Amino acid sequence: MLHKIIEIAKEAGEIIREGFQTNFEIEYKGSVTNLVTEIDKKSERHIIDFVRKEFPSHSIIAEESGNDFRSSEYAWFIDPLDGTTNFAHGLPIFSVSIGVRKNDETIFGVVYDIMQNKMYAAEFGSGSYMNEKKLAVNSTDKIEEALLVTGFPYDIARNPDNTIERFVAFLKKARAVRRLGSAAIDFCYVASGVFAGFWEAKLSPWDYVAGDLIVREAGGIVTDFDGKNLTPNSVQILASNGILHKQMLEIIQGTR
Ligand code: IPD
Ligand code: CA
Ligand code: CA
Repeated sequence: MLHKIIEIAKEAGEIIREGFQTNFEIEYKGSVTNLVTEIDKKSERHIIDFVRKEFPSHSIIAEESGNDFRSSEYAWFIDPLDGTTNFAHGLPIFSVSIGVRKNDETIFGVVYDIMQNKMYAAEFGSGSYMNEKKLAVNSTDKIEEALLVTGFPYDIARNPDNTIERFVAFLKKARAVRRLGSAAIDFCYVASGVFAGFWEAKLSPWDYVAGDLIVREAGGIVTDFDGKNLTPNSVQILASNGILHKQMLEIIQGTR
C-alpha cells in the first residue's frame, strides 16, 4: 500500500510540476488571502479517482472536496497541493501530502516535495525515509542554537490567537525562525534534522496527518499546544526533535 501511495503522490506531483508557472485559473476560498487554483483541483481529482478505484471502501478527507466517509477502518487525508500561495506566486516550495489512518492510528505518511523531487515516506513502526535515505531528527538541545520554522493561518488578521506574540517569543529565543509556506515540508525538514522544531496555530488534518507520522518515525515528538498526541481534530501543532519539546511548549504556553 505504501508503494501505491508513493506512486499516486508522484503522479499528482507531475500534474503540479507541469502546471507550475502556467496560466492557471485562481479562485478565492472566502478571502483574498486563501487561494485555490485549478491545479489544486486537478491534483486532488487524480488522487481521489485512484483511491476510489483501488480502495472503494476507504473514507476520504480531502481539502478541496471535503469528506466522503465510508464504513471502512481506513481513512485517507489528502492535501493535493500544500503551499498554494507559493505555487500561485511562482515560488517553488510546495508539496503533495497524503496520510492514511487505520482506526485510531496513522499507518502511512507520504509527502512529495515536488520541485526538489524528494519523496518523504513513513510507515508506522518502520522509520521515515527521503527517497532511500533513512531520516533522523537533529540533537539540538539549546533553543539558542535551534533553527525553527512556523506558518501563519489565512485568517491571521481576524483571528490572531496570539500568533504574533508567539512568533516574537520564538524569534527572541531561537537562533532563527523561518516561514516556508508548506506545512507538510516543514514537518519533513524537522524529520530530516534541518529544523529543530515547527509550530503552527491553525492547521487541518490534511496538513499534518502525514507529517506527524514522518516526524515521529524519525525520532521526533508531535503534540498539540497542550502536549497531547494529535487526533484528526487537532488544530494547534508542535513538532520537534523531542529534546526541545518541553521548552517549546513552555514558550507557547507563556504566550497564551
Ligand atoms: C497552507 C500551508 C502553509 C500554512 C497554512 C496552510 P495550503 O496550506 O501549509 O504553510 O501556513 O496554514 O493552510 O492552503 O497551501 O494547502
Ligand atoms: Ca495545506
Ligand atoms: Ca492545499
